Amino acid sequence: MIDLKNIDVHFNTKEQVLHAVRDVSIHINQGDIFGIVGYSGAGKSTLVRTINLLQRPANGSVQVNGQNLLDLTAKELRQARKKIGMIFQHFNLMNSRTVAGNVHYALRSSNLSDEEKKIKVADLLKVVGLADKQDVYPSQLSGGQKQRVGIARALANDPDVLLCDEATSALDPKTTLSILELLKKLNEELGLTIVVITHEMEVIKEICNKVAVMEDGSVVEQGNIVSIFTDPKNPLTQEFINTATHIDQALEKLARHPSLLNLNREDVVVRLSFVGESTNEPLIARLYSKFAVTTNILYGDIEILHDTPIGNLIVILSGSAAQRSQAVHFLESQNVTVQQLEHIQLAKKSKVVPLIREKVI
Ligand SMILES: Nc1ncnc2c1ncn2[C@@H]1O[C@H](COP(=O)(O)OP(=O)(O)OP(=O)(O)O)[C@@H](O)[C@H]1O
Ligand SMILES: [Mg+2]
Repeated sequence: MIDLKNIDVHFNTKEQVLHAVRDVSIHINQGDIFGIVGYSGAGKSTLVRTINLLQRPANGSVQVNGQNLLDLTAKELRQARKKIGMIFQHFNLMNSRTVAGNVHYALRSSNLSDEEKKIKVADLLKVVGLADKQDVYPSQLSGGQKQRVGIARALANDPDVLLCDEATSALDPKTTLSILELLKKLNEELGLTIVVITHEMEVIKEICNKVAVMEDGSVVEQGNIVSIFTDPKNPLTQEFINTATHIDQALEKLARHPSLLNLNREDVVVRLSFVGESTNEPLIARLYSKFAVTTNILYGDIEILHDTPIGNLIVILSGSAAQRSQAVHFLESQNVTVQQLEHIQLAKKSKVVPLIREKVI
């Protein structure tokens, strides 16, 4: 569907040549909701703008729907671009036109009759839940409603692909969810392929089936969402996931209030991560019945990604070193990843709270 191969983008600034995208290859299938996550300046927007050639790459190839876009004439490219809709963080609506007027404008070069255009606009506004706002001006709309107009406008020419550049970054969490739900509905009902740029793994977690993580112009890791969430390899991916699953905040809280831990000599703090069936097992109870190891849960989080439960716990294991060691082996045999936390570090890196009392678990 979308095939970007070895994409490089350079910008010539006064002082230097800036490599905004470095040798990036990604493949997006029809019907994917593909997330691109990274911090500011990572090159996400620049990369995504190569998909409709708003940004021409210095090297590489851009295939969309079987067409090599770099080979097209200007006229053919205009046609191809109509099938690639785009929405933005700040909506980019025309304030002097009504809601219907904004969507209607996107149909200016369509072959539909005036009457057909009117029906089309009304249909699109119905799809995005704004049937009653046709004659309202953008200034009278909430942020979420403005983005719905942006989506209706982007769908006007029946695109196969929708590019979303930080489309929910200006919205509150509840409105963000409602927009993400709308995108998911469009993906399911229209078979729309969606590319989502964001700096929040929360957004990726909510709707994407695949994700690429970008840093300094490169894709440092990519894959399907369940494998990336359960086994992130790159430190940056791990950081994004720890934030999305609130593990970072939990550790931070514990570091600020070490008295919560109330550790005895024989206690260790561990992080348990598990996927799928392991989450159904009464494992914690079995640690006590089998090994006399007690478990004090400090933090727990279960995410459901595409029907796969993914769990993260921070717990204190109490028992003799030998008992704890057996318990850890048992957990690992049940496909639970056990990571001993030797210290908890505050995000500001100003303070490290040691958790380890003895070396062996
Ligand atoms: N037209 C341009 N001219 C010069 N440099 C640019 C241009 N567009 C982007 N850049 C630079 O390229 C790099 C990547 O920018 P880009 O906007 O793609 O990042 P991003 O990941 O989308 O960031 P953000 O999350 O802030 O939107 C940045 O260093 C940026 O300053
Ligand atoms: Mg950007």
